Amino acid sequence: MKYLLVLSILFVSNFDFGHSQARAGQAAQNLCRNKQNGVFPHEEYCDYYYECDASGEAVIEACPNGLAFAGHKRGLVTNCDYPHRVGCPDGTRVMGQQPIGSDNCQWQYGVFPHATSCTRYWHCWNGTATIQQCPFSLLYNDVIHSCDWPDNVPDCQKHPICKDVPNGAVLIEKSCVRYWLCVGGYPRLQRCPAGLAFNPNTLRCELATTVQGCEPPPTTAAPDEEEESDANKPAANSRPQQQAPTPQQFRPSQSGVRLVGK
Ligand SMILES: *[C@@H]1O[C@H](CO)[C@@H](O)[C@H](O)[C@H]1NC(C)=O
Repeated sequence: MKYLLVLSILFVSNFDFGHSQARAGQAAQNLCRNKQNGVFPHEEYCDYYYECDASGEAVIEACPNGLAFAGHKRGLVTNCDYPHRVGCPDGTRVMGQQPIGSDNCQWQYGVFPHATSCTRYWHCWNGTATIQQCPFSLLYNDVIHSCDWPDNVPDCQKHPICKDVPNGAVLIEKSCVRYWLCVGGYPRLQRCPAGLAFNPNTLRCELATTVQGCEPPPTTAAPDEEEESDANKPAANSRPQQQAPTPQQFRPSQSGVRLVGK
C-alpha cells in the first residue's frame, strides 16, 4: 500500500507541468504522424490532451484548471469544457491537475454549490466567483451542476417558499390566480380554475367576484385570458397594495433568502 502511494505520487509529479507544453510519448507521436494540427484525448487524464503541432509533433496541453478536454474547437475555452458536460471521470480517466481554489471556487473554472443556500450557486471563471440564483421554485443540484426540481435535490428538500407552510397554499403577492402549493416542503406553481381567484384570507381558490381586488372586469373577455403572465410579473388585474398581508406572504422576487437550519 505504501509503495503504491509513493509510486502514484511520483507518477503524478511527472505530469505536474502546469500549462507548459511537454513532448508526448511514442503512442501520441504515432497518432500525430498522419494528422497535422489534430487534438487527441489523453489516456489517463481528462484535463490534459495531445495536440499535434504544424511539424507533426505531439505535445501535451493542459486545459484551464477545472475544465476537461472536449474536442477540437469544442467546449467553452481552448478545446475544453466542464467535466460533467464531457463525462469526466469516466471510469478510465480522471482529472490530473490539482484544483486551484479561491473564494467560493473549488477550481478556477466550474459551477459550485453555495455553502448555506439551496437556491443559489457559484459560477467560477478564471478563479472569480459570480453568484447565481435558481429561477422559480428550482434548487441547485450539484450532481448535474444546474438548477433542478426540488424532488431531485436530496440535500435541499425544503425550499424557502415553503419554510412557514411546508404543506399548504402560499400566496403569490401580485397574482390573483396563481399560488404556490407546498407539499412536504416542495413548492409547485398552481393556477386557480377559470372564474376563480386565490383568496389570501382563506388561502383557497374562490369565485373571483367574491375576492376583493380580483373581481373580473365588467366587460369580461374570456376568463382564461385574464392572466398569462409569469408569476413574478404583476398581472393586469393584480391585487391592490393596500390588501392586508397574510402571515404566509412570500415575495418570489425576494433575494437573500436562506434556508433555515441549513
Ligand atoms: C485570469 O486571471 C489572471 C489574473 O488573476 C490574468 O492574469 C489572466 O490573464 C486571466 N486569464 C484569462 C484566460 O482570462
